[in-house]
Amino acid sequence: MALPNLSSLYPLARSALFAMDPEVAHERLMDLLASTQHHWGRMAYAQARIDDPITLAGLRFPNRVGLAAGLDKNARCIDGLGAMGFGFVEVGTVTPKGQPGNPKPRIFRLPEVDGLINRLGFNNEGLEVFLQNVKQARFRQASGTPLLLGLNIGKNATTPIERAADDYLACLDGVYPHADYVTVNISSPNTQNLRALQSDQALDELLHALSERRELLQRQHSKRVPVFIKIAPDLDEPQIDLIAATLRRHGMAGDRSKDEAWGVIATNTTISREQVKGLPHGEETGGLSGAPVYASSNAVIRQLRQRLGPHFPIIGVGGILSGADAVGKIEAGADVVQLYTGLIYRGPALVSECARALRDMPRA
Ligand code: FNR
Repeated sequence: MALPNLSSLYPLARSALFAMDPEVAHERLMDLLASTQHHWGRMAYAQARIDDPITLAGLRFPNRVGLAAGLDKNARCIDGLGAMGFGFVEVGTVTPKGQPGNPKPRIFRLPEVDGLINRLGFNNEGLEVFLQNVKQARFRQASGTPLLLGLNIGKNATTPIERAADDYLACLDGVYPHADYVTVNISSPNTQNLRALQSDQALDELLHALSERRELLQRQHSKRVPVFIKIAPDLDEPQIDLIAATLRRHGMAGDRSKDEAWGVIATNTTISREQVKGLPHGEETGGLSGAPVYASSNAVIRQLRQRLGPHFPIIGVGGILSGADAVGKIEAGADVVQLYTGLIYRGPALVSECARALRDMPRA
């Protein structure tokens, strides 16, 4: 017997969820996914995955729509989220030790503009629990082109910024054998000084350390895992040029085999409030996501593509609320896209809408 798919009823579910405090709603939803992902209850949100394979960074993506990091920080719901039709799912940000994050309340809805502000501050249960959860996921047993898994790593709030590389390396060691790709998050606005790692010398040093460790891990595990650097939308043109130049200096652009080892995710949330002036919660501290970040993310992607050339892997993220938005991201220069806030406002139907729109785009 075919079970009903309830994705089309998301507007109803959303009314119930939006009546709750945003973080409580988030926790309920994660509990629901965790408890249903391995039995028939998943039919409430499962959707056929649109088939639109693409090879990027040496990986075969089943389609071009992924889940962005931050929804499933502890990697509890990889299978449930994968069932929504994503081609790839990124979980984390994980830090070496568990940490509580910032005081609550720390997530705010801005429904007038399909936006969210969060200042969670990498609340998570730490690397050990994260890895246990990742190992329990069953998606690798599925048939067909497998869902890809991105594991997103960060630093603890108590680690001084001068020692940030230690945290990233500890996380890289742990996640490497389990990841299809690893994301190095240096762009959250909610961890003090983190975004300073995007600056010239700090980025250079971090990339050098990651590069060396990656080679070692590649030999140890006989497995090549591409590493993506996740950057902010609040960078001006000279800063983006510097990031592109630093990537090039590390031999990460221009040479296809090296290109396949590295990539960029653009972008994280914004600290700008230009788009939300005067709105309720518009002045809350934190990172703003959703529709208000769409244009600035696209501007970063456009400049990166121009500076890094046609082969460098770019994952575009920020403000996708429709299939047309996803198409706009690819037109700006992204190879594949991710979304988070759009899923909260539009539900799982957005995933297939975007994947279908990208599949039907004329290919260059
Ligand atoms: C995020 N994002 C995020 N990114 C990341 O690399 N690590 C993280 O832990 C988080 N946490 C997080 C929490 C919440 C509540 C939100 C809304 C976002 C950023 C996210 O992955 C994405 O880059 C931005 O939100 C922009 O995309 P959307 O949400 O506009 O599609």
